[in-house]
Amino acid sequence: MNLLNVDYTTKIPNNVNLTSDRQVLKALEGWHPGYLDWWNDMGPEGFQESLVYLRTAVSVDPKGWAKFDYVRMPEYRWGVLLAPQEEGRQVNFGEHKGQPAWQEVPGEYRAMLRRLIVIQGDTEPASVEQQRHLGKTAPSLYDMRNLFQVNVEEGRHLWAMVYLLQKYFGRDGREEADDLLRRRSGDADAPRMLGAFNEATPDWLSFFMFTFFTDRDGKMQLESLAQSGFDPLSRTCRFMLTEEAHHMFVGETGVGRTIQRTCEAMKAAGIEDAGEIDKIRALGVIDLPTIQKKMNLHFSLSLDLFGSEVSTNAANFYNSGMKGRFQETKIDDDHHLTETTYPVLKLVDGQIKLVDEPALTALNMRLRDDYVADCAKGVERWNKIIDRTGVKFRLELPATTFHRQIGEFRDVNTTPKGVLVDDATWAKTRDQYLPSRADGDFIESMMRPEVEPGKVASWIAPPKVGIDNKPGDFEYVKIAA
Ligand SMILES: [Fe+2]
Ligand SMILES: [Fe+2]
Repeated sequence: MNLLNVDYTTKIPNNVNLTSDRQVLKALEGWHPGYLDWWNDMGPEGFQESLVYLRTAVSVDPKGWAKFDYVRMPEYRWGVLLAPQEEGRQVNFGEHKGQPAWQEVPGEYRAMLRRLIVIQGDTEPASVEQQRHLGKTAPSLYDMRNLFQVNVEEGRHLWAMVYLLQKYFGRDGREEADDLLRRRSGDADAPRMLGAFNEATPDWLSFFMFTFFTDRDGKMQLESLAQSGFDPLSRTCRFMLTEEAHHMFVGETGVGRTIQRTCEAMKAAGIEDAGEIDKIRALGVIDLPTIQKKMNLHFSLSLDLFGSEVSTNAANFYNSGMKGRFQETKIDDDHHLTETTYPVLKLVDGQIKLVDEPALTALNMRLRDDYVADCAKGVERWNKIIDRTGVKFRLELPATTFHRQIGEFRDVNTTPKGVLVDDATWAKTRDQYLPSRADGDFIESMMRPEVEPGKVASWIAPPKVGIDNKPGDFEYVKIAA
C-alpha cells in the first residue's frame, strides 16, 4: 500500500492500514457515532444540510494532497492521516538523543505523553464549539466556506489525536477519547482544558483574530510535537500542520481585508484621523483602534496557552524527548540544554526584568518568543496594508505582560506598553485597551449576513483570489432552505 495515498474504501479514510489493525478499527468505529452526535449537536449551527465546497485530504503528499468538492458537513470524510515514516529517524533532543525514535509508547513516559495528546486533542473540538454560531452572520459565502473548512479540519485533528489514544493507550486511551466528546467549551461543569478555548467567539472579527493568534499557538504546539521522539505523534502533527496553514491564512487575510476596507472608507470620506471613531463607524466599517483592542485581547489570551514561563513540566517534556523546540533540528546547539540559560521576563521586586533561567525550564518562554516573532511579522503585513492606503496608523502587538491570567504577570496589571499600573488605574483605563461592551455591540451591529454569491458585507473588502481558483461570484455554499 502506498502510504502517501489515503484508503477511502473503508468507513474511516486512513493511510495507516486500519483494515489490518482490527482492534483499533473496532475502537474507532465504536467512537464514530458519538463523534457524529457531537458534530450534529455542536458543529456549525443551521448549515448541516447545506452543500459546502470543501477540500478533503486524499493524500499526504505535500505537492498535491487535497481535492475540492461539494459536501454536506456531516458527510465529510474525516480520516486518520499520518505523514510518511522517515527511514532511520532518531530522537533529536534530550536524554535519549541519538537513539532510534520510538514506534511504541515508552513505558516510563506513558502518562506524560497521554497528557500531551489529550491537551492538544481538547483544543480541536473546542474551537468548533466556539465558532458554531458564526455561519449565520458570515460576511460572504467565501468566508462562510472558509469557516466551515476550518471547522471540519479541527474535527479531523480531533480524529488524529483520538487515533493515537486508541492505538497506543488501550483502555485509558479509549476513556480519554470519550471524554474529548464530553467536555464543552465554556461549560460550567465540564469545560475545555485551556482558558482561551472557553472564551466566546462572538463575531467575525473575533474569529479572524482567533485563527490568526490562537491557531498560531496551535501551530507552535504542533511544530514542537512534530519534533517528538515518539514517531507516530511526530508524523500525525506533521500532516496536521499542512492543514493548519490554511487556518492562519483565513485569520491573516480576514483581518487584512477588514483593515483594507476601513482605510478605503476613511480615505473616500476624507477622514485623516483614525481616532474619529463615530464618524468612521458611521461609514459601516470597523475603526482601527477597535481592531487594535481586539488584537490586544486575542494576543493576550493566546499567550496564556504557552503556560508558565518557567516550568518543570516543559523541562520534563524536553528531557524525555516527547516535545521539542520550534524547528529543533535546525538549531545549532547541543540539544540537551543542561548547561545553558535563557532570558525570561519576570517580575522581580515589583519590576519587570529579564532574568537568566536554566534553558530547560525556560522552554515555554522560548516557544512563546518564537510565537511572538511570528505574530509580529503578520502584524507588519497588516501595517503595510494601512500604509498603502495612505492612512496614518500603526497596529502594534501589546507587551507580553499585558492582560495575563497565567504565568509571571497574572497578578499585576500593565498597559499594552508594559508599564505597571495599580488596580484603580487599570479599572479606569481598561476600556481603552480591550474591547468594551459598546465596542462589542457596535461590531455585532455590523454582523449582517451576506449570502448572495460574490457579495461581501460593508465592513470587509472582497478576497483577492478565490478558493481553488474559483471566480468571485462562485457559490461556495449552497444553503439548504
Ligand atoms: Fe487544529
Ligand atoms: Fe487550526
